[in-house]
Amino acid sequence: MTDTTAAVTYGNYLKIDELLSLQQPRSEGPEHDELLFIIVHQVYELWFKELLHEFDRVRRLLEDDEPHRAQHTLKRILTILKVMVAQLDILETMTPLEFLTFRERLDAASGFQSDQFRQIEFVRGVKSTAAIQRFPEGSRARAELQRRHQEPTLWDAFLRYLSREGYAVPDSQLQRDVIAAVEPSPEIQQILIELYRKDTKNAELCERLVDLDEGIQEWRYRHVKMVERTIGMKRGTGGSSGAAYLRETTGRPLFPDLWEIRSQL
Ligand code: HEM
Repeated sequence: MTDTTAAVTYGNYLKIDELLSLQQPRSEGPEHDELLFIIVHQVYELWFKELLHEFDRVRRLLEDDEPHRAQHTLKRILTILKVMVAQLDILETMTPLEFLTFRERLDAASGFQSDQFRQIEFVRGVKSTAAIQRFPEGSRARAELQRRHQEPTLWDAFLRYLSREGYAVPDSQLQRDVIAAVEPSPEIQQILIELYRKDTKNAELCERLVDLDEGIQEWRYRHVKMVERTIGMKRGTGGSSGAAYLRETTGRPLFPDLWEIRSQL
């Protein structure tokens, strides 16, 4: 019998033909810079996919009491975040006039509608039902967001891990509503101060969580600066006030206790 299975090649393993068919500019011509715009966004979506894959792993490793491996995975996440921030430099080579050659072809499309970005926010503890309802019933995006809405956040997994490590995390924190935003807690701050002073292993883990928080804020800051230099104060295609809306979302830490203790150490 002959083997009908095609040999694995670079092209068929990575689905290169399919991949290269996915960039479809909408402008007439098409305008030169639209390809770059599409590719940069598609690359971001791939990184978002990878980040979600790694976040799930960090949470599982914390649940399995594997702090070193969780830290290792956080390091990978941070390295990806650095690359993601650096990638904005490429898009910043597009001038405001170059962007205008195809901007109106975007209609109401905007990064605001990225469900994977919202999923990352959900994992980190910023959840909203409005973000779920923007996606049609039965869509992949809505199903993923609904699932993540109910799941414990990274912070919840971390608190439960600390409790198993012997720290007196109050029950109110261990059983907190995983949908609610993480609020600063004096009790948790006391625990973290004690931990930083005498528990190097877990202090390192906390530092990686601070890196993560800072990394996302860095992306947000760079994104808003890019928006300001490309469209100034114009409204966003997604319907928001644009840079003014985006500026409000920068500089908000998601793990407030980890930042708060710095002035108390
Ligand atoms: C020329 C380039 C870009 C411009 C002018 C731009 C502009 C904007 C604006 C104005 C908003 C606010 C929502 C709206 O009304 O549309 C926004 C949101 C957003 N953009 Fe961009 N953007 C650019 C590139 C990117 C890239 C490369 C990404 C990567 C995926 C991205 C991801 C996002 C995300 C995730 C949001 C939602 C942020 C939030 O709601 O917290 N943007 N963008």
